[in-house]
Amino acid sequence: MRILNFGSLNIDYVYSVDSIVKPGETLRAKDRQVFCGGKGLNQSIALAHAEAEVYHAGIIGQDGTMLLDALRGAGVNTDLIKMVEGDSSHTVIQVDSSGQNSILFFADDNLDVTGDFIQEVIGQFNQGEYLLLQNEVANTSLIMEKAHKQGMKIVFNPSPIQEEVKHYPLHLVDVFLVNEIEGSMLSDLSEPDEILSALMEKYQNAHIVLTLGEQGALYGHRGERIFQPAYPAKAVDTTAAGDTFTGFFLAAYLKGSAVKDALELAAKASAISVSRKGAAPSIPKLSEIV
Ligand code: RIB
Repeated sequence: MRILNFGSLNIDYVYSVDSIVKPGETLRAKDRQVFCGGKGLNQSIALAHAEAEVYHAGIIGQDGTMLLDALRGAGVNTDLIKMVEGDSSHTVIQVDSSGQNSILFFADDNLDVTGDFIQEVIGQFNQGEYLLLQNEVANTSLIMEKAHKQGMKIVFNPSPIQEEVKHYPLHLVDVFLVNEIEGSMLSDLSEPDEILSALMEKYQNAHIVLTLGEQGALYGHRGERIFQPAYPAKAVDTTAAGDTFTGFFLAAYLKGSAVKDALELAAKASAISVSRKGAAPSIPKLSEIV
């Protein structure tokens, strides 16, 4: 089963700090490292590490060779990645001594995906194949609409969420992977069980996965609900933990695993990712998960 991931490709500038800088404060960082990242790239690498057949579509700048190399090294097909003039998208990430992060994301306008590019990419996929999307590239609504017209199944991780996501054609989504903040914004509720019920009611045909960090994850579809506890991990850097969960869950689910097994694999993989530094480099291989 081919999976198209139409997503972001970022260079992450990661600063180690004692505490995340507050408004008006100046802090000396202890260290800086540069990693491959972007929710799109991370999820493609997680899918590939979980042994799925993944095609990544997106746009990079002239400095993006390291992003291509990381994807190719993981076994992701990069034929649908376009290199344009200018720099790639980048982030400034602070990671504190407890492993928590804050992320500032910048994507230049020249990296916007155009209608023509979307058509060119989606036209290469067939009915029943899967599209994975996050919320870091332009024209996400249009990508959803074109993929739906092509008969593709749509998996959506609305991260990082903004109010405008509510106006996307979410009725076209087959699988949602949302965290508590995203679920809360989409449902106007705050309690996890209530969020799940509301999303199941609103998107009756969709499979809903609600990730809850250290509290685990909830899944709901029609009458079925599953709770997946998190695996304990010593947090070094939580960046890409959610992306790792998404990639491993989806890969296992599309290979025909039972949902509860796909959730368990994803929880194990994301616990390993939390215990390692960086985004893409923290994502484990399937062989590391017992
Ligand atoms: O989910 C983690 C990712 O979010 C980072 O790699 C960063 O690039 C941002 O997109």
